[in-house]
Amino acid sequence: MAVPLLDLRAQHAAIRDEVVAAMMRVVDDQAFILGPPVDHLENAVAELCGTRFAIGCANGTDALLLALRALDIGRGDEVVTTPFTFFATAGTIHNVGARPVFADIDPDNFNILPQAAAAAVTSATRAIMPVDLFGQLAPLDAIAAAIPDIPMVEDAAQSIGATREIGGKIVRAGEMPAIGTFSFFPSKNLGGYGDGGMIVTQDETLATRLRRLRVHGGLKTYFHDEVGYNSRLDALQAAVLLAKLPYLERWSAGRRRNAAYYDAAFADLGGVKTPSVDPQNVSIYNQYTLRVERRDDLQAHLKSKGIGNSIYYPLPLHLQPCFSYLGYHEGACPESEKAAKEVISLPIYPELTEGQLDEVAGAVRGFYGH
Ligand SMILES: Cc1ncc(COP(=O)(O)O)c(C=O)c1O
Repeated sequence: MAVPLLDLRAQHAAIRDEVVAAMMRVVDDQAFILGPPVDHLENAVAELCGTRFAIGCANGTDALLLALRALDIGRGDEVVTTPFTFFATAGTIHNVGARPVFADIDPDNFNILPQAAAAAVTSATRAIMPVDLFGQLAPLDAIAAAIPDIPMVEDAAQSIGATREIGGKIVRAGEMPAIGTFSFFPSKNLGGYGDGGMIVTQDETLATRLRRLRVHGGLKTYFHDEVGYNSRLDALQAAVLLAKLPYLERWSAGRRRNAAYYDAAFADLGGVKTPSVDPQNVSIYNQYTLRVERRDDLQAHLKSKGIGNSIYYPLPLHLQPCFSYLGYHEGACPESEKAAKEVISLPIYPELTEGQLDEVAGAVRGFYGH
């Protein structure tokens, strides 16, 4: 039995009537740009994240771009981030004219190492951009302790609803930093029917600036205080996301259940390391990522059995051709480079049946001779 890496149709089938009705309300109103669904989703996401403000935008990449602009980061500035992430994290730093500075990751959880981030800070550093990779929060508390005076932009594109216990308090993705950013790309735990993004902050001045930047830098029509972007969250997407939001916690719990199933199924396999979740964290498992021996052979084996899988990420960002001008060479971030050769992500979506979980687990176990 083939098992896809992600089956968006299975999720859609379960909620089709609600989502289509929500979309048709927008269509019937013919109010496609900002308006009530966007306002409602912003309020709901702010509540979910424990932030005072949430600002919808066109996608998770723009959320990062707007965040950097709102912090006045540009030419001559440096932003410290991880090389083991989706391209957008560093691409946006480059695109505001700043220089990405890469700090290596913790091999256990793939998130940026606070000590490495602190060591990468220079007099030009204007922000730290940790990524909550695969669904679990980066050690934001340790990063803030190591680098207390530099604002943090938390790239939480993959981690909406994830939490971390900090000083006895449950802190949610986006709640702690100067600015947190989310993506509603369809494969995220809360995915739209197209692109979408959101920015959260506790700071009213930043929130006003972000609202302005997403509409060409002017809150009064045809008057522009600065040059911004056209980066609004589409009202149709907001309506879809509002309809899906009540299910988010259930879906993330389903992913955790599937992760526990795989963890148990792979516990006795030599050559396979199941994902480590930091004891302070609750992961939403946007991805379930193993570290394995003979990764490329395992991938070929899974492919031959029709088991969906993917490599997130095969080439760390410091070694990408487009960043050769930064002067990094192999060996600069050894843990990221090692991870890129050993990781493989398996189907983890909440609609997986027990039969499908068995099929995936059996294929991995079969490869390692069990
Ligand atoms: C870590 C990370 N940052 C940024 C993004 C960019 O989000 P989007 O695809 O919505 O532009 C993504 C999503 O794909 C991501 O995974």
